Amino acid sequence: MHTSKSLISTVVLRTVAGLLMAPFFMMATVIAAQPSAVAFDAATKVFRIDGEGVSYVFGVNPRGELQQLYWGGRLAATDAFPQARPMPEWASFDSPYSNTPQEYAGWGAGLFMEPALKVTFADGNRDLVLHYDSHTVRPDGVDVVLKDIQRKIYVTLHYTMEPHSGILARSATIENREAQPVTVEQAAAAAWALPPSHYTLNYLTGRWAGEWTLTQEAVKTGARVIESRRGSTGHRANPWFAIQAGESNEDQGDVWFGALAWSGSWRITVEQDQLDAVRVTGGFNPFDFGYVLHPGEKLETPVFYGGYAANGLGGASRKLHRFEIDHILPHRQDQKNAPKPRPVIYNSWEATEFRVDEAGQMALAEKAAALGVDRFVMDDGWFGQRKDDHAGLGDWYVNQQKFPHGLKPLIDKVHSLGMDFGLWVEPEMVNPDSDLYRKHPDWVLNFPGRPRSEQRNQLVLNLARADVRDYVLGFLDKLLTENDIAFLKWDYNRNWSEPGWDQLPPAEQKKVYVEFTRNLYSILAELQRKHPKVELESCSGGGGRVDLGILRYADEVWPSDNTDPFDRLTQQDGFTYAYTPQVMMAWVTDSPHWLNKRSSSLSYRMLSSMQGSLGIGANIAKWNDEETATAKRLIAAYHAVQPTIVQGDLYRLISPRNDSEFSATQTVSHDKSQSVVFAFIHSTQEGRTFPRLKLKGLDPAQQYALSPIEGKALAGTPQVASGAWWMNHGLDMDEGFRGDFQAAAFRLDRK
Ligand code: GLA
Repeated sequence: MHTSKSLISTVVLRTVAGLLMAPFFMMATVIAAQPSAVAFDAATKVFRIDGEGVSYVFGVNPRGELQQLYWGGRLAATDAFPQARPMPEWASFDSPYSNTPQEYAGWGAGLFMEPALKVTFADGNRDLVLHYDSHTVRPDGVDVVLKDIQRKIYVTLHYTMEPHSGILARSATIENREAQPVTVEQAAAAAWALPPSHYTLNYLTGRWAGEWTLTQEAVKTGARVIESRRGSTGHRANPWFAIQAGESNEDQGDVWFGALAWSGSWRITVEQDQLDAVRVTGGFNPFDFGYVLHPGEKLETPVFYGGYAANGLGGASRKLHRFEIDHILPHRQDQKNAPKPRPVIYNSWEATEFRVDEAGQMALAEKAAALGVDRFVMDDGWFGQRKDDHAGLGDWYVNQQKFPHGLKPLIDKVHSLGMDFGLWVEPEMVNPDSDLYRKHPDWVLNFPGRPRSEQRNQLVLNLARADVRDYVLGFLDKLLTENDIAFLKWDYNRNWSEPGWDQLPPAEQKKVYVEFTRNLYSILAELQRKHPKVELESCSGGGGRVDLGILRYADEVWPSDNTDPFDRLTQQDGFTYAYTPQVMMAWVTDSPHWLNKRSSSLSYRMLSSMQGSLGIGANIAKWNDEETATAKRLIAAYHAVQPTIVQGDLYRLISPRNDSEFSATQTVSHDKSQSVVFAFIHSTQEGRTFPRLKLKGLDPAQQYALSPIEGKALAGTPQVASGAWWMNHGLDMDEGFRGDFQAAAFRLDRK
């Protein structure tokens, strides 16, 4: 490693074999064997970062700006770039500063595109022009320092590429070395650029009980803003995007994708500029933003991950899934091993709601254990004076009426049944009807003297305050120290209103948007340190807090309070564009479903949930022998193939979107030894046969045995055939596979 403006440096990672062979092979061969490299060419001032299948190139142009040059499929080592040339002026109306795809543009000098950074200096000056200053090459990336052309505002851009996925982590550190404070009004983590072409933008939107809608639209002139102004990630939109070039589809073509690791208010702006190029800028949401940097202080942005795949949206999501499992999710047991498939859980929320007590939970635990469930989770209602959602949040002591002997008898019972125990908490919230609020009414987000808007009868604790942070960390640490708890379902059931922080001077109060989320992360990190085995679910009234920031601490997420098995097919389809099925909890609940009043068979409900990390959320006390036997059989079948389903390569064979009559998914283990196929019929029309499923991702030369998990294949389907046969000929369903809300599942095992 060295710091330099002048030397050529190349650092090659994980390339022992490649280096040894280098003299004997042509350059291109060596490159293919070298997953990652970082290089700076001092003559042309070009930086190049290579990962498997990906190159990212940028350089310093003669004006001193850092300019993006290339992002896409891996280039040969022999391919060289001349020094970056800024885009010319477009008549007298669009300046080179605005037209040039800068890596991180300050707002100044006539910038009309989304700025990466906008500041106001103490003297009222708001002009910021960032030029290259220096850089440091690291083994896995590079830090490039930019500086304003006159003032001592330094921005260090961090680039780190994960060699096997080619996913690039980008973030910025903004430092004020002036003698006066500076207010940062807008700070992106990164800006990504694509050259003029025809593109389709994919993004995920939703609402409570309706998360994960995939929207696909042409990128057109102007800006598409996806964001949360709510203080947390939000149901309304998710901080992920994918941009497809031209004819790219699920299986083919160029896709660029990105995801922000931030659980506070965020914004991603996708804009096509006046010369038809595209820029994607994302980071802190600039709405109501204002972060005062005193002399010597720094602001770190979140990380914006970006990747490229040559094989369509399917290829992009498979890369992202693997990256999340290997590099984002907590690795609890052993840092070298990937996270384990999730335990199959039972949760009684839909069955009992707040009516939890020792006898009732013990009875459910017995039933759950008999089904083959691994983990028993008690949901809301166990603490304080919590009878419904009007009271008790904030008072984290065990309710004496419901659990006269504390939690221990229930936890012991759950353990004696061979399961571990999980518990629901909602640490960042308080009901006005609680001891905590009566004692500390100043602890909530509020503007003094203004109304405090309640949602679900609750207010948001101002986690940005050190005393609130200490309280939350303290009660959670105590709870986990005093009880043998394996898992917390961490809920967060409202968005912000009146986001005041009156302990700070008026000019600094907007820091709440950053400090709240940072304190949340610091609590989670501290709990992880003190209780390394305790696993966590991120829930926010369903999927309101799912992002790569929270997933550094959360082993799983609750995608939606909507557990209708048919709705879930579309939600799960949308979810998997951005997030791995490993974290996608999916409960089987009662029929008819409470939300849509839809009736469906237990087998259909089970198979819908078995596409993710399975849980049972039904009132199992009422299940008859047949239902119990079906669930037991399918939980055992699920356990046998779960690693393939949740950690394998996912192929979305037929999408349930757009009112599709059918849908199907397939997963393949990384070693291609096993595959699992799910097929669903919404409602058969005109007697149509289920489409033949041409499978994907198998080894064509190997033999695979087909066995049903549920349902049958067409009579005459070979029991054993080659990967080539399953992929080229395909799998036909039984002729009787017709009707409303039907489901089938199969496994293929390499012989
Ligand atoms: C939220 C969660 C539910 C349940 C309730 C409890 O809505 O998403 O799963 O835990 O809170 O109040």
